[in-house]
Amino acid sequence: MENRHVTLIDSATGKKIDLPVLSGTHGPAVIDIGKLYKELGYFTYDPGFVVTASCESEITFIDGEKGILLYRGYPLEQLAAKSSFLEAAYLLLYGELPKQAALEDFTQKIVHHTMFHEGIKSFYRGFRHDAHPMAIMVGVVGSLSAFYHDSTDIHNPRHREIAAYRLIAKMPTIAAASYKYSIGQPFVYPDNRLSYCGNLLRMLFSVPSDDYAVDPVAERALDLLFLLHADHEQNASTSTVRVAGSSQANPFACVASGITALWGPAHGGASEAVLRMLMEIGDLQQIPKFLDKAKDKNDSFRLMGFGHRVYKTYDPRAVIIREVTHKLLKNMGRSEDPLFELALKLEEIALNDDYFIERHLYPNVDFYSGLIYRALGIPVNMFTVMFAIARTVGWVAQWMEMMSAPQQRIARPRQHYIGPAQREYLEIGERK
Ligand code: SDX
Repeated sequence: MENRHVTLIDSATGKKIDLPVLSGTHGPAVIDIGKLYKELGYFTYDPGFVVTASCESEITFIDGEKGILLYRGYPLEQLAAKSSFLEAAYLLLYGELPKQAALEDFTQKIVHHTMFHEGIKSFYRGFRHDAHPMAIMVGVVGSLSAFYHDSTDIHNPRHREIAAYRLIAKMPTIAAASYKYSIGQPFVYPDNRLSYCGNLLRMLFSVPSDDYAVDPVAERALDLLFLLHADHEQNASTSTVRVAGSSQANPFACVASGITALWGPAHGGASEAVLRMLMEIGDLQQIPKFLDKAKDKNDSFRLMGFGHRVYKTYDPRAVIIREVTHKLLKNMGRSEDPLFELALKLEEIALNDDYFIERHLYPNVDFYSGLIYRALGIPVNMFTVMFAIARTVGWVAQWMEMMSAPQQRIARPRQHYIGPAQREYLEIGERK
């Protein structure tokens, strides 16, 4: 539609301006407010960026009303049924599904770069044994530029690609080492004969004194979870990576900033918080008490794993994960897992409660994911680390998209200042 615009009229001055409206492939059109301040002298105000588009992107599309999630145009449900984590990673990075040779080459590059510099091992020794693995991840990933400074020229596309591969490849090794350190077991080197997820399971759970065989059911479940968590447009941690990248920080520092943002229980930390919440609720009789707490404005408790800034219906990932959880537990002879039963009942009751219905609060990706990680033997404090491994693909894909864009500007939001008016300094004897 040519020259589509909205017209703003300032009631204070009667001044009128036309602001261009830009349409995308899917989703709401956007109003380009670039000339708003210059022509009308106003900023816009949108705390939490609820209706603010921070960038143009071709990577992931979400329709929160319809519960749609597309990776480069492909519906998540189709990718979950037919694709793999590394194939989806290639798609997110390069925009197209790979041919066989390209997938094999990409997989080989990732799986063969899973080792990290031996010097990094000494980092772990500096942490207390009870350090949260996410704290270790932030520290170790943030240090990677000190070891891989040969891929930190952010203006060199080849460097950007090498750094992206290194991050995707080494996150599982760094994560597994943070777990091994916390339980006092020796680190396990990657085995390049295994798949990406098989390697991670072996680095997490094998010990030098015993044989270890990767369970294909667990390997597939983990691969699917990683695919579902790979990207999610401009969520808090991805936006953090973009903001860090806009200052031209190196990619390792940008991903470390993403890990810090993901850790919060309002974001990726929710998967750990859901398990702890289910354990605290304990049994079905306690559900009403906790739902009342979640609805009580004076109580900071929220129903973890419920609600979403964008989804106002089921998070499509939660639907898939719930099914996978059911099948996995059945497969493992644990279909009576009391926490899974409790989660199902909690979901059923909440979804029939007016408070949740009126606010369109549905289970999100984190509501069931922890139950799968738990079934795979992954400890609760490693759940968000799992999320970080998967989301590294989205973080580096979005960072590469931003760094290869012709127009790059540092992210620097403004504010609505409501502090003290300008005033003169008071000598100490004059202060009240
Ligand atoms: C992830 O953004 C992404 O894409 C994130 C993510 C990704 O893949 O990157 O999808 C991953 O982070 C999923 C979300 C995981 N977080 C949780 O499960 C934590 C619990 N959820 C809430 O904290 C909350 O729902 C958020 C943070 C997810 C969304 O917060 P919003 O969009 O700012 O919504 P809000 O706080 O304005 O809530 C609207 C209303 C409020 O009530 P009223 O003031 O209107 O009366 O809903 C209420 C809230 O109090 N509400 C909840 C609730 N979530 C919202 N009440 C109880 N329990 C909840 N979980």
